[in-house]
Amino acid sequence: MRRILITGGDGLLAHALRTAPPTDDELFFLSRQDFDLTNPGQMQRHLDRVDPQIVINTAAYNLVDRCEQERELSWAINATGPEFLACRCAENSRQLIHFSTDYVFDGAKKSPYRETDPAHPLNRYAAGKYAGEQAVLRASPQHLVLRTSWVFDWHPTQTKTFVHTVLRAVREGRPLRSTTDQVSVPTFATDLARWTLELIRRPAAGLFHAVNDEAVSRFEWTKIILEEAVGAGLIPAAPPVEPVLGSFFNSAMRRPDYTVMSNEKLARLLGCTLGSWRNGLRKMLAQMK
Ligand SMILES: NC(=O)c1ccc[n+]([C@@H]2O[C@H](COP(=O)([O-])OP(=O)(O)OC[C@H]3O[C@@H](n4cnc5c(N)ncnc54)[C@H](OP(=O)(O)O)[C@@H]3O)[C@@H](O)[C@H]2O)c1
Repeated sequence: MRRILITGGDGLLAHALRTAPPTDDELFFLSRQDFDLTNPGQMQRHLDRVDPQIVINTAAYNLVDRCEQERELSWAINATGPEFLACRCAENSRQLIHFSTDYVFDGAKKSPYRETDPAHPLNRYAAGKYAGEQAVLRASPQHLVLRTSWVFDWHPTQTKTFVHTVLRAVREGRPLRSTTDQVSVPTFATDLARWTLELIRRPAAGLFHAVNDEAVSRFEWTKIILEEAVGAGLIPAAPPVEPVLGSFFNSAMRRPDYTVMSNEKLARLLGCTLGSWRNGLRKMLAQMK
């Protein structure tokens, strides 16, 4: 039996790991107050106490827009903290599993990004996450980095996902506008948790793109969420969605448009296709009911 320490214990992915089918491993979930990525002394104490063979770092500063203001804090959580963790884990032969983002790419490619494609972060969030993942990969050849995108799932208290945002707007009677030029792959956290645990069993190391199949624009994603929410009886009818371009929102922060990642490398390793997010969306909406 191995001991696995999981950071970011109150988050979406951590919840999916918590509810995954049990294995022989012993899981220790630590939330922000107990394992703060900006507090090296506290992290070291818990690493010594739990003495895990594996650390899964799900903690992150994910408020993309706010990273532009909270420049130091977001960097400490997304870059410096993971680097510290990766080095301490490497020194003690612990494997670190870390998560990164499709935002490391600039969107110029227009065909699915592979692990070998060069990154080019456009904003502070992306730069911090890129610095973090690269530090993890440098620290040890045993470490594993999974880049993912548009993560969604049901959570007992958290309602931050795009699915929640769309349904909240409908309930509050606000008009819906969604972008046709921002394209990526929604990923069901339950699936991401399952792949992660499977990779631990193998074991695997290095960089992988861990996303479901089927790329969509934000506009298409919004329409599908609405159709499925009607089917699930969560809303009586799907309101119209106005298609707009990303430039409509007039943000000073640059965002990549096209960040679809190819999951071929991971699918080959796992020996199966990774499947669409559609079943996951139905499961989430059923739980929301
Ligand atoms: N969600 C997405 O769409 C998405 C897309 C691409 C990549 N990812 C990556 O996937 C991974 C899992 O994300 P997720 O969706 O599970 O995110 P999440 O639900 O936001 O969970 C992240 C957790 O990290 C915690 N945290 C924040 N600051 C911390 C700190 N200083 N020390 C320790 N914990 C801290 C948060 O706690 P509080 O809530 O108390 O702040 C939260 O519980 C992350 O690496 C994320 O960057 C996510």
